[in-house]
Formats: sequence, structure tokens, C-alpha cells
Amino acid sequence: MADILTTKARGSIAKTRAGSIDEIQPVRLGLVCNDNALSRQAGLYQQQFGFERLRIPPGSGFYLLYSIQGLALCQHGASPIWVDFVAGAMGHRRRFGGGRGQPLARAMGMKPGFNPAICDATAGLGRDGFVLASLGSRVTLCERSPVLAALLADGLQRAALDAEISDWVAQNLKLESTDSSDWLDAVDEAQRPDVVYMDPMYPPGKSKVLVKKEIRALQQLLGPDRDSSRLLEIARQTAQRRVVVKRPKRADWLAGEKPSTSIESKKTRYDVYVTL
Ligand SMILES: C[S@@+](CC[C@H](N)C(=O)[O-])C[C@H]1O[C@@H](n2cnc3c(N)ncnc32)[C@H](O)[C@@H]1O
Repeated sequence: MADILTTKARGSIAKTRAGSIDEIQPVRLGLVCNDNALSRQAGLYQQQFGFERLRIPPGSGFYLLYSIQGLALCQHGASPIWVDFVAGAMGHRRRFGGGRGQPLARAMGMKPGFNPAICDATAGLGRDGFVLASLGSRVTLCERSPVLAALLADGLQRAALDAEISDWVAQNLKLESTDSSDWLDAVDEAQRPDVVYMDPMYPPGKSKVLVKKEIRALQQLLGPDRDSSRLLEIARQTAQRRVVVKRPKRADWLAGEKPSTSIESKKTRYDVYVTL
């Protein structure tokens, strides 16, 4: 796990435009593991991400379950959520998602012979970052929630065991368990990404777009990303070529900032801020 991950599990400072500072406290959950053979790895996740070990699931709310299938985010009455880069929706999107012609790839400025280095500043369940890595870009997945970072670390561990994808996953995907504002602030000049990609959590209820059940669960667990205007500012100062912000199709521009151009798909808009 140490190869895959760099961890800085701590609160993030969100500076609002008005200048006030809020400490964003990471949500930490209890971790259940009833399989003795998996106990050592469960202990590593527990230590690395600061989870409490539970013997049985709590009576209500979210918890993490580590089983032979992997690490899952669970909630009573809902299907478990895990990061599966090998099969399921991700396997399907990798094979049939439209390749470099899909709006996400076009928004990144991918061209024949050019695969931009990308910082996925809001990695979440890693779906967009994984697609971009499968198309040839080197992607740094930055995720500040210890819960999501642990799910990603576990998904990457299982991807590393898959004969079909392990080589390019090892080469193209790196996880940073940290706030991307801090990562972008600290990145070496030579390592500055060509593109910073942002897909912040949109406040629920503002959009009529039907959100997928996973994203609904994340909204419930983490709440909206209130500091994304600040992240956009830092991203625009750091990206060598462009910042791309994913928005629901009819949503306002992030922070009221007009993009250089936008690329639309059925339900989504990618606002592109050229920084060259
Ligand atoms: C809507 S989800 C992203 C979904 C992702 N694009 C995918 O394909 O799975 C937003 C995620 O960004 C993370 N996030 C928001 N602001 C962040 C920041 N400044 N640094 C790191 N992670 C951040 C949140 O914790 C959340 O997990």
C-alpha cells in the first residue's frame, strides 16, 4: 500500500473569498473486519487513515466493511460502495466509454501523440481519473477524505493484481491522500501538471439532475465542497495548460468565473480555463 499512497490525513483550511477560514474536519468512520485472514490489512487501513475498529456494524449511519471483496462504504438499507477498477461500471466505461473522443478526454486537450499530465484534484471514487489514465495520461488522484482515499487505495491494490490493467495502472495512477490545494501549493516546478481537473461536490437540491446513488451517498457523508472557488484559484495558478471544471449542464460557472470554452455531454458540462 505504501507504494500506491502518500497520506497527509489532517483537516484542510478552506479560505473563503471573504477571507474567513473554516477548518474542514475529515469524516472518519468505524471499520468492521470479521475475516481473520484479512485482519492485518484491515489494521493497516485503520492506522493509515485513522479509523476506529468495530466488532459489529453500528446501529445506524455509515461504516466501512473490509471483506474478501475489498473495502466497502456501507450504510444500512443501501448497497455497499467500493472502488472497482477491474469489472462493473468502470470495466465497461474503459472498454466502451468512447475513448479519446469522449467529452471528458476532449476537455483535457488530449490529442494524438499528446497525453497531458493531470492532477485530478477531487478524486472521489476515481472514476474520471481512471478513464483518463486508461487513455494514456499520468494522473495524480488527490482526495482529502480519509474514507474515500482508503476506498481508492484498496481499489488500486486490487487493480494491481489484475493481469489486464496492472501495468498501466502502476504507471499512470498515483494516489495522494491530501487536500489538493496543499498538493498544488507544494508541487515542484518540474512536476506541475498540464491540467488540473475538478469535479467538486455540488450542493444537493440546486440541480434537477438525477445524481447517481453513489454520489448521493457521498453528498450525505461529506456534504458540499464549499471551498471549490479557492481551489479553482490555486489550480489556475498551477496548471501549465488548463483547468477543467465538471458541472451539471445547467449550473452556473464555478465562482462566477467565465471559462475560455465549454464542452458539453448529455447531462454534464466541462468548463475549460486555459492557463497557457
Ligand atoms: C463529486 S466527487 C468526485 C467524483 C470523481 N470525479 C469520480 O469520478 O469519482 C468530489 C470529491 O472531491 C473531494 N474533494 C473536494 N475538494 C477537495 C480538495 N480540495 N482536495 C481533495 N479532495 C477534494 C471530495 O472529498 C469528494 O470525494
